[in-house]
Amino acid sequence: MAVLEVLSYPNPFLRKHAEQVIHFDDALRQLVVDMTETMVAEDGVGLAATQVGRDLQLLLVHPTALDRDSDPDAPNVVVINPQCIWQSEEVALGEEGCLSFPGVFTQVRRPVAVRVSAVDLDQRPFELEGRGFGARALLHEIDHLRGVVMVDHLSYLARQRALKKLERNLADKKASKPGRRDKAAAV
Ligand code: NI
Repeated sequence: MAVLEVLSYPNPFLRKHAEQVIHFDDALRQLVVDMTETMVAEDGVGLAATQVGRDLQLLLVHPTALDRDSDPDAPNVVVINPQCIWQSEEVALGEEGCLSFPGVFTQVRRPVAVRVSAVDLDQRPFELEGRGFGARALLHEIDHLRGVVMVDHLSYLARQRALKKLERNLADKKASKPGRRDKAAAV
């Protein structure tokens, strides 16, 4: 098991449109184990493979991100080759954080509900619904697999503000000062 390095924006890998997973092998299972450990270490509720430098359409989402009442000790949902098959017309602004933007939280407009189809580690197809933060988390992670990051959804000024804050936080991190933590969960 290993904690993987989470790439920070503007690492060019975060702009990659990830390849479909075709090999459902031990290496893929190991990557899921390592990404799980990385999420625990980074205190994140979602993580896409592209954030750890893997060119694969694979994301993990913690069940509490999808449903607040879920068991906090339940395993992550493994989502492979996801497709958004439906999203609500209704949208809402909500706070969003991202492990690739340490300590940065922004207000992003997203659909309030979404339905996603995917396969699991055994290539079994399944569907997943997200509402509220759950929809936000799923869309945020699927964005990562398409090379899209949360600041792409912001207006020019909000984006500049977020990038300034990121610059400061990454400099603080280098100087090993504790980063500013916020209340929202990072994905
Ligand atoms: Ni993210």
